[in-house]
Amino acid sequence: MFKVRSSHTVAICISFVICSLYIYNKLLNSLEEPIKSHTILLQRIIENQMTFQNRIDDLIDFCEDELMRIKQFEYNNFSYWTNYVINSTEETYFQWISGRDSIATIVVWRNQVNFTLRSDYYNYISNNCDILTNDIYGGTFGVDNYNLTCFTNEFSAFKNKKTLSNSVFKIGLPQNSVKYLRRVWNRSDNDFPLSYIHIAHNAFVNIDGDVWKDDYKILTQRCFQSGHNLRIPLLTYFFFARSYDRVFVLTQKSSDAYFHFTVENLPRLMPYYKWLLKKESIKILLAKPKYEKYFQEVVSALKIPKSRIIHDEYIKARILYYPAGGTCGRSPIYGTQLLANYFNNSNNQENKTRIIILMKRSSPTRQWLRHKYILQMVERIAKEHLLEVMEFSDNPAPSFTETVEYFSRAKLILGPHGAGLSNIIWASKDAIIIEGLCKITPQQSNLCYRNLAAVLGLRWYGISDGCLNLKEEVLEPIIRESLKFT
Ligand SMILES: *[C@@H]1O[C@H](CO)[C@@H](O)[C@H](O)[C@H]1NC(C)=O
Ligand SMILES: *[C@@H]1O[C@H](CO)[C@@H](O)[C@H](O)[C@H]1NC(C)=O
Ligand SMILES: *[C@@H]1O[C@H](CO)[C@@H](O)[C@H](O)[C@H]1NC(C)=O
Ligand SMILES: *[C@@H]1O[C@H](CO)[C@@H](O)[C@H](O)[C@H]1NC(C)=O
Ligand SMILES: *[C@@H]1O[C@H](CO)[C@@H](O)[C@H](O)[C@H]1NC(C)=O
Ligand SMILES: *[C@@H]1O[C@H](CO)[C@@H](O)[C@H](O)[C@H]1NC(C)=O
Ligand SMILES: *[C@@H]1O[C@H](CO)[C@@H](O)[C@H](O)[C@H]1NC(C)=O
Repeated sequence: MFKVRSSHTVAICISFVICSLYIYNKLLNSLEEPIKSHTILLQRIIENQMTFQNRIDDLIDFCEDELMRIKQFEYNNFSYWTNYVINSTEETYFQWISGRDSIATIVVWRNQVNFTLRSDYYNYISNNCDILTNDIYGGTFGVDNYNLTCFTNEFSAFKNKKTLSNSVFKIGLPQNSVKYLRRVWNRSDNDFPLSYIHIAHNAFVNIDGDVWKDDYKILTQRCFQSGHNLRIPLLTYFFFARSYDRVFVLTQKSSDAYFHFTVENLPRLMPYYKWLLKKESIKILLAKPKYEKYFQEVVSALKIPKSRIIHDEYIKARILYYPAGGTCGRSPIYGTQLLANYFNNSNNQENKTRIIILMKRSSPTRQWLRHKYILQMVERIAKEHLLEVMEFSDNPAPSFTETVEYFSRAKLILGPHGAGLSNIIWASKDAIIIEGLCKITPQQSNLCYRNLAAVLGLRWYGISDGCLNLKEEVLEPIIRESLKFT
């Protein structure tokens, strides 16, 4: 169908998403029924082709209309008694969801959006790859998800480009669901799902972004996916929750924190951002931020009116838009790159001096105690390379606009593990990140910024045991070697 009557060549290059809506409500793992109903829907899409602008926007509206047509929308028809959880990490998730008549699912396919993934990716380097293997999201994870290998102090890894493996597209999905999705959505083997969004009616939502609907609860991919209540905790919450007409669920567990908001929530929003901006009547549910100023600046930079953001602990929505969750510590590549592109500031930076960013953290457990000496050393090196040094403190932190500007000018970003490193999203493609890893459990460090750098195609060096007492003599050769490659 995507030859799209070859005369309409324009249609081929612009965004196209397949919306699938199942009018069957059959048994769980039944593969046949959804395909059948899907075929019917595809037929309908083809018939409507001429009126489509082939954009995600139109498809969301289309699904919503269909949902209304098939199922009478009724206010206040919510269920308190949920009996089971639909866990979005489980292999049967899409099978289950596609068997419901009250949820429409739109899958955004790679071959159908006008979006070019970055082309260059790199392996990563450490002073001790053996230890990194056992860290959170360790080496095996790096190989399985990104096809990236750790090289112990072999700086040539910063020169040799490589390809990410296609398994990067399964981040945010049940691990083996790509084949199933292709089959149901009739996509070819070289196509990959980039994101998905559910549209449901009469749903109840809490501030962790968990959705109760009919007799089930949907759990999106997020941090702390095991800690949850099956039922809406109190009947009073159920009765007194505020009702809204249309709500986009952006909130999820921990989205009030700097890292989770930036790295997990914003990428979750971006595939639907343009559509959402136009639909002014849709509210956006988000946890009350801990970093109020930063949050307001980001929202304002995204041109989202404050009045559209709601922070209620529990809500009822007549129509709910429920995008794929922000997987804990692992950004999906599509939303993350969309986010980076949106704030790409490089055109304004053309003639400005490139900088080295040295992060200065105030957390007692995650900082460089010898910061003062490290700064002196970095300033000396910067001078030799005609670079400037920017000391990036978290107390007080620069404004969001300044942050984006600094990071987009940086050739090198150095710092101990901490939320400020989320800002590597705004970095230029040639930037190198040197992170001093801190233990977050007695045995392990967290490689979440390795993961972020991986999907952005940035080069990353992880210093194992690179926290509190890191010495400038250890850092210096790493900086000098890295600068040869940027
Ligand atoms: C595709 O994206 C590019 C870059 O964002 C844009 O310039 C172009 O107009 C888009 N093409 C279509 C057909 O939307
Ligand atoms: C992983 O990377 C290697 C070397 O860059 C490449 O040859 C291989 O095809 C990649 N594997 C996958 C599954 O993409
Ligand atoms: C699936 O896609 C192929 C190729 O695009 C097309 O020929 C076929 O008719 C489609 N099948 C259905 C059931 O839509
Ligand atoms: C909502 O109302 C419809 C139509 O009356 C009914 O079929 C459905 O079971 C109700 N849903 C719940 C959760 O009560
Ligand atoms: C959902 O699945 C994840 C991982 O597969 C698991 O850690 C979590 O406990 C599950 N949650 C529920 C409520 O079953
Ligand atoms: C950068 O400098 C060049 C040459 O002086 C000039 O043509 C260009 O407009 C400048 N760019 C910006 C963004 O100021
Ligand atoms: C930002 O945009 C410029 C100009 O379009 C491009 O050359 C550059 O690679 C982009 N930077 C990033 C980090 O995407």
